[in-house]
Amino acid sequence: MTDLRTVVSEIAQEMAGRSERGTVAHYIPELACVDPARFGIAVMLADGTQIAAGDCDEPFSIQSVSKVFTLTLALGKVGDGLWRSVGREPSGNAFNSIVQLEQEQGRPRNPFINAGALVVTDTILSGHQPREALGEILRFLHFITGDDGIGIDEAVAASEKQTGYRNAALANYMKSFGVLDNPVAHVLGVYFHHCAIAMSCRQLASATRYLAFLGRNPDTGHSVISVERARRINALMLTCGHYDGSGEFAFRVGLPGKSGVGGGIIAVVPGIASVAVWSPGLDPVGNSRLGTEALEMLARRMHWSVFG
Ligand code: DON
Repeated sequence: MTDLRTVVSEIAQEMAGRSERGTVAHYIPELACVDPARFGIAVMLADGTQIAAGDCDEPFSIQSVSKVFTLTLALGKVGDGLWRSVGREPSGNAFNSIVQLEQEQGRPRNPFINAGALVVTDTILSGHQPREALGEILRFLHFITGDDGIGIDEAVAASEKQTGYRNAALANYMKSFGVLDNPVAHVLGVYFHHCAIAMSCRQLASATRYLAFLGRNPDTGHSVISVERARRINALMLTCGHYDGSGEFAFRVGLPGKSGVGGGIIAVVPGIASVAVWSPGLDPVGNSRLGTEALEMLARRMHWSVFG
């Protein structure tokens, strides 16, 4: 069998030498300061072994990767009722696009584009103060990773709040259709803060485990979510996890994955492993350029694919 340790260290070495690294996100000023030379990777297997390399212990802004965890929480809270206010189709548009919202009466295409994630955040917020909702999101991450050190980078949250005009437009627009129940300022506040959660590749690989192992923690056998729900979240990651780059990611990597503009990507190898990679430079669609390439190499060399 191909040795995973060798593959992971060769990928890290290869990525360290690349000069074409994509462009760091600039529309959130605090993210523009991140060094594009960073690269990290962590793979976590069923027995809990982590095989990691590069900047795998360095916390970074998880941004839209957080949408997988908020979706999990919102489904736990309201079940399939969530699908009344958000769809399950790829959008074929940018993550912060507003055009479809008018045509589709304020109901976002899927929970991973920004509009859909704002609806998910609104669902978690209902019945809570913003601080409690954020506490719930962080507690969930602490629970699934066993790591209480995971927190929010307040400078990133403040930076996004200051410049989040598009998200404010999306939230106000959905509010006008009656899609959001809570005050727009509260929804935006919680959304900016959960996007600003900082985690390392090791922590993210650990957090993604329940999706690779039928909704369970394979160490303890404890169920986080049902098998059916884990499968469905994986299906959404495969079809919508990379916005209008989702088809390309499925073609090249062949695994469910979710990206963030901080340069992180999580990926799921069902029954085998959970993976996290980080490289801050993005491709034109907003997905990590070298992160995608690293996952493509990993999947190809380990013969990992959900397509057989
Ligand atoms: O709302 C935003 O624009 C960011 N907080 C998150 C966007 C994001 O990560 C898109 N992912 N590639």
